[in-house]
Amino acid sequence: MDDRIISAHLMMEDQTVELSLRPRYLAEYIGQSQAKENLKVYIEAAKMRKEALDHVLLYGPPGLGKTTLSNIIANELGVNIRTTSGPAIERPGDLAAILTNLQEGDVLFIDEIHRLHRTVEEVLYPAMEDFALDIIIGKGPSARSVRLDLPSFTLIGATTRVGLLSAPLRDRFGVVSRLEFYTVDELAYIVSRASDILQVQIVGEAALEIGKRSRGTPRIANRLLKRVRDFAQVKGDGIITVDIARVALKHIQVDDLGLDEIDHKMLRAIVISFQGGPVGLDTIAATIGEESQTIEDVYEPYLLQIGFLQRTPRGRVITPQACDHLGLPRPKSAD
Ligand SMILES: Nc1ncnc2c1ncn2[C@@H]1O[C@H](COP(=O)(O)OP(=O)(O)O)[C@@H](O)[C@H]1O
Ligand SMILES: [Mg+2]
Repeated sequence: MDDRIISAHLMMEDQTVELSLRPRYLAEYIGQSQAKENLKVYIEAAKMRKEALDHVLLYGPPGLGKTTLSNIIANELGVNIRTTSGPAIERPGDLAAILTNLQEGDVLFIDEIHRLHRTVEEVLYPAMEDFALDIIIGKGPSARSVRLDLPSFTLIGATTRVGLLSAPLRDRFGVVSRLEFYTVDELAYIVSRASDILQVQIVGEAALEIGKRSRGTPRIANRLLKRVRDFAQVKGDGIITVDIARVALKHIQVDDLGLDEIDHKMLRAIVISFQGGPVGLDTIAATIGEESQTIEDVYEPYLLQIGFLQRTPRGRVITPQACDHLGLPRPKSAD
């Protein structure tokens, strides 16, 4: 796992702070209005009918609030949440044990659901569809299948890679929501709220400055805020002014768009070594010494979002805007 300051992946130091900053109710969950409005209705309806909520699939790049939203859903439903992840469930029996321990209406949250083993996934189908568990008793010719009833429950799956989900699994989710990158205003609001919780004073313009450089991602916004707070304490009087914020962000090498050295390295490589592209992901990865998986999950989505990169069938292509931002001449292919 990478340890870039702007990495959207969860890092050790985030964990304690993230818990306190994590919104607990839909009303505190900023942005994602489409996902939120729909979920509000479904949650209300499920509560009125006293039924479990339909299974929910949340997807989108890391740090956008999938885990947070899953916990909020359970909280709003007033049920328990059992949290696990795709790779953590090694055998079908592990999943069976989890399922039989659920209570009526509970939420089962499976993070990184695209990494579920095939054999485990097969246990999930009847569980999702009929709230049933098919178990085989005995071996060889005398083996028979017995069906056990499970409590009705809501499966919430989260993934950064919805394309890797098998069709039968994807089809069993009643609600599928894609989380979007946040706007600068939403991120500034998240930063202000986090500052309140951390009891640090911040001026509005500084919150906007941090928001602007958070790559649309709340996890990054919170992390940048913590770093900037350190600067305000040591170099200032504890109040985060816009000047302090700018100095701090410059020190930690996050540019005005939130891009760091690795983004720069990657974009430069495409311009300089590959004449602006198209160039394959694996080639880029090898050139800059990063894993293609990480590039695809973490670095690339935001660069695509801000129009610095384009995906074509023949590979990635740099855009004129990216060249301008980097101060490099536009390659012919980028015009
Ligand atoms: N909508 C939101 N409003 C406020 N804070 C948020 C929101 N979404 C995420 N966060 C913050 O970002 C952090 C990372 O979110 P998380 O749910 O762990 O992301 P994911 O599971 O998608 O990687 C959370 O701890 C929370 O502090
Ligand atoms: Mg998560």
